[in-house]
Amino acid sequence: MKVLVVGSGGREHALCWAISNSPLCDALYCAPGNAGIADVATLVPIGSEDVDALVRFVQDNAIDFVVVGPEGPLVLGLVDRLTALGVKAFGPSAAAAELEGSKGFMKDILAKYGVPTAFYERFKDPDAAKAYVRKHGAPIVVKADGLAAGKGVTVARTEQEACDAIDDALVGGRFGAAGAEVVVEEFLDGEEVSFFALCDGENALPLASAQDHKAVGDGDTGPNTGGMGAYSPAPVLTPDLQDRVMREIILPTVKGMAAEGKPFKGVLFAGLMIMQTPAGPVPKTLEFNVRFGDPECQTLMMRLKSDALAALVAAADGVLDSIDLRWHDRTALCVVMAANGYPGDYAKNTEIRGLDKAGAVENVTVFHAGTKRAEDGRVLSVGGRVLGVTALAPTVAEAQAAAYKAVDALDWPDGFCRRDIGWRAVGR
Ligand code: AMP
Ligand code: GLY
Repeated sequence: MKVLVVGSGGREHALCWAISNSPLCDALYCAPGNAGIADVATLVPIGSEDVDALVRFVQDNAIDFVVVGPEGPLVLGLVDRLTALGVKAFGPSAAAAELEGSKGFMKDILAKYGVPTAFYERFKDPDAAKAYVRKHGAPIVVKADGLAAGKGVTVARTEQEACDAIDDALVGGRFGAAGAEVVVEEFLDGEEVSFFALCDGENALPLASAQDHKAVGDGDTGPNTGGMGAYSPAPVLTPDLQDRVMREIILPTVKGMAAEGKPFKGVLFAGLMIMQTPAGPVPKTLEFNVRFGDPECQTLMMRLKSDALAALVAAADGVLDSIDLRWHDRTALCVVMAANGYPGDYAKNTEIRGLDKAGAVENVTVFHAGTKRAEDGRVLSVGGRVLGVTALAPTVAEAQAAAYKAVDALDWPDGFCRRDIGWRAVGR
C-alpha cells in the first residue's frame, strides 16, 4: 500500500514509525511531517488543514490509505472527501468527529444512550447559565462547546469563577464561534485516565490505557499544556475496569453513533474519571477525542507488537472483528521536551544536539514533534512541544529511568522537561 499520514507532531512520528515497520507498507508519505518523520517517510509540504491540497496529493499520487493524526482535518471533513473519491482513510467523518468538535453534541449522545458522565446543561444565554451555576453551586465545570485549543475548560472552584468563565465565552467572545455555546457540568472528583479503542462503525477493539501529564511543571503545577508526558498502561484501569469501560462507555457510544446515522470509525479516545464510591471504583466519561492522544500515542505504538497498519486498515474496512492485537506487557513512558517558555511564548529555531546519543539508549525511541532539519543538516526546534523521549521497560520505574537517561544525553539548553513523568504509577 501507498500510505499518507497527515500531521506533524510526535503522535504522527509514532504512527509513521509503526506503519513503516508493516509488511503491508510499500511507500509512506507524511504531510507536513517533521525532521524525525523524514527518517521513515517522504515529507510532503502540505499543511494538515489544507484539505483541498491533501485530496489533490492523494489523487495525483494514487495513495491507497490515509491516516489522519489531528482532529482539525477530521472536523473539516477530510475523511468524507477521501471516502467520496473511493480512497480508504483512518479517522471519522466530519459528522462523527463532532464527538470532539462539539461538547454539547457529545453530552447529548451520552445522555441519550445512557453512557455514564457528569450531569450537565447546554447554554447560549449567560444569565440562564449563571442561574444554573447558582442552583448547583461550586465546584462546577464550564466548557466552551467547540474546539478551543485545549483552553476551553474551566474547572471553577467558586461560583464567581464559573460566572466569569461563562461571561468570557458567551459575552467576551474569548473563543470566538467555538464559545458561542457552553456546557456547564457537574464536577467529578477522582483519578483521570485515558482509554483508547479502535472503532469500525459497528465494533470496537480495545487498545490500551494511558495517563497524561497536562500541567507544565513538576508535581502537576503551572498552566496546562497539550501534554508533558505519558505512560501506558495506567495501573488505575484494572482489567475489570477496562471491561466495564468497553461495555458501559465505548460500545454504547459506537452503537449510538451508528443509530444516529453517524457511524464512528477511527480511534475513540475517552477521557475518564475513575471515581471512588462505597461500591468500588466507577468510570465516568469526561470527554471524547476522535484521534490518538499526543503523547499517549507514542506510548501505545511502542507497546503494540501487532501490525499497526493492518489494524488501522481493518478499522477503516469495518472488519475489526477479524483482528486480534498483541501487546508488550511492559510499560512505555514518554517524556516530552518542550521549548523554554512553553506553553507561553518560546524561541524557535534553536539547535538540538545529542539526538543520536539519546536514541542509542537501550529501549528508547526519540520521537520528534516540533522539529525541522536546516539545510546544513542541523535539527532545529520549531514548536512548543519538540521531542517525545519514549522508553519501553518491564516496570514503569525502569521505563522512567531509561527515558531520563536519554533526556540527559540530549544537548539542548533551550528546552526543558518535567522530571516526574510517571510519578503516580511509580508511587503505586
Ligand atoms: P477536556 O478539555 O474536556 O479534556 O477537559 C480538560 C480537563 O478538565 C480534563 O482533563 C479534566 O482534568 C478537567 N475536567 C473536565 N471536565 C471535568 C469534570 N466534569 N470534573 C472535573 N474535572 C473535569
Ligand atoms: N494529550 C492529550 C491530548 O492529546 O489531547
